[in-house]
Amino acid sequence: MALFVFHPRTGTRNRETLEATLSEREFVKIFDTTLRDGEQSPGCSMRPEEKLQLAHGLEGLGVDVIEAGFPIASAGDFDAVGAVAREIRGPVIAALARCRRQDIEQAARALEAASHPRIHVFLATSDIHLKLKLNISRQQCLDQAVSAVRMAKSLCEDVEFSPEDATRSDMDFLCQVLAAVIDAGATTVNIPDTVGYAVPSEYGELIQTIGRRVHGIGKVTISAHCHDDLGMAVANSLAAVSAGARQIECTINGIGERAGNAALEEIVMAMRVRPDRYPYKTSVISENLFPMSQSLTEIIGMAVQPNKAIIGRNAFAHEAGIHQDGMIKNSLTYEIMTPQSVGVPGSSLILGKHSGHRALGLRCEALGFNIGKHELDEIYRQFMALADKTKIVKDHQILELIVKVRGSNAFLDASDKRSSSQAWPQLGAMPQSASRNDVSVQGASLRTKIDENDPQEDYLWGV
Ligand code: KIV
Ligand code: ZN
Repeated sequence: MALFVFHPRTGTRNRETLEATLSEREFVKIFDTTLRDGEQSPGCSMRPEEKLQLAHGLEGLGVDVIEAGFPIASAGDFDAVGAVAREIRGPVIAALARCRRQDIEQAARALEAASHPRIHVFLATSDIHLKLKLNISRQQCLDQAVSAVRMAKSLCEDVEFSPEDATRSDMDFLCQVLAAVIDAGATTVNIPDTVGYAVPSEYGELIQTIGRRVHGIGKVTISAHCHDDLGMAVANSLAAVSAGARQIECTINGIGERAGNAALEEIVMAMRVRPDRYPYKTSVISENLFPMSQSLTEIIGMAVQPNKAIIGRNAFAHEAGIHQDGMIKNSLTYEIMTPQSVGVPGSSLILGKHSGHRALGLRCEALGFNIGKHELDEIYRQFMALADKTKIVKDHQILELIVKVRGSNAFLDASDKRSSSQAWPQLGAMPQSASRNDVSVQGASLRTKIDENDPQEDYLWGV
């Protein structure tokens, strides 16, 4: 069945098959704009040395293009783009510029040392922006876009043009501008959904129409750039790829203006996990996604929501008894990719009021106790009473319950797996799996003894 042919589940065992399959797929470039559009989100600005550190991480992640900044915006951003251009030799380094001489010249100067420089020029094309923001006519917009692309081209072979607010622009005018900038030398045309207004079917149709109608479009790459104001940035980006786009602009953790940009990690994993729907390859090394996300969080100090797809704290955590039961039997029941495939060390079973016997038994085992069925029943009864009052039951509370049930000889049972010197398990001394007050699951092999007694027992819990 196609669903599980992808490598997040098969791991290294089927690497050859995987690579054969991947080589047949069309390539989609990942254009990372964490350091430019991502930085524009409130509270996310970065110093040049922080941008450089992240740029090294992005290179290691395997992105194709790093948009390092907007050099005209500040001296610091000019320096940051310059530093990234000097040190990062693999990916294309892009710098943003408005359609103005000073911006374009400053971008070109910042990119002087780059091995693969790109100037990215943008100008709004929607009537809303032309009238209310720029106060120029459509003809003036067209002329300004063409002369900016010509100028950028005279300084850099690789030129990207973005008609800002493309999704609210008049279709005929948009196509006219795109044809003109391609004729002037643009090599990529990016279609921004600047205000996150589009829905997937509509954005896909827009990309298709551009692919059909714009003169010269076959010579250039069509790029998607989506914001998340309606929560559809990733869906829109994927719809664009299905409609012919071959570059996606996105950010780590989905940071960006207002509600953010399309999240890189979600786009990449959607293609990896669902090649039946998105038969495309990217050069991203998915095992580096979580470490990259963590580096960004550390640098900007903005945490991701716990339930964020792919890299959120709860993305591979299970609390409901039914789910924990399934996970202990076989992680295929409730996980569509392995945590390791995105660089997360392991899945975890969180102990709370929805948890079942089996997860609690596993936790006791991880703490070094060999708990019999009757003992576990009693610990579980008291655990549930406690879990009703507290959200997550921590290790020290489980230890207290064991002591309560076993009495003062709790640590003297010869069959326990703790070493005799380990009178009271210290959190710091526990295996890594225990450090989050949860139970790590390494695939389907972990089972408690009660499995054999009643394999469906926990299925009744946590409905
Ligand atoms: O959202 C947008 O329109 C942009 C452009 C500058 C590409 O970020
Ligand atoms: Zn944007």
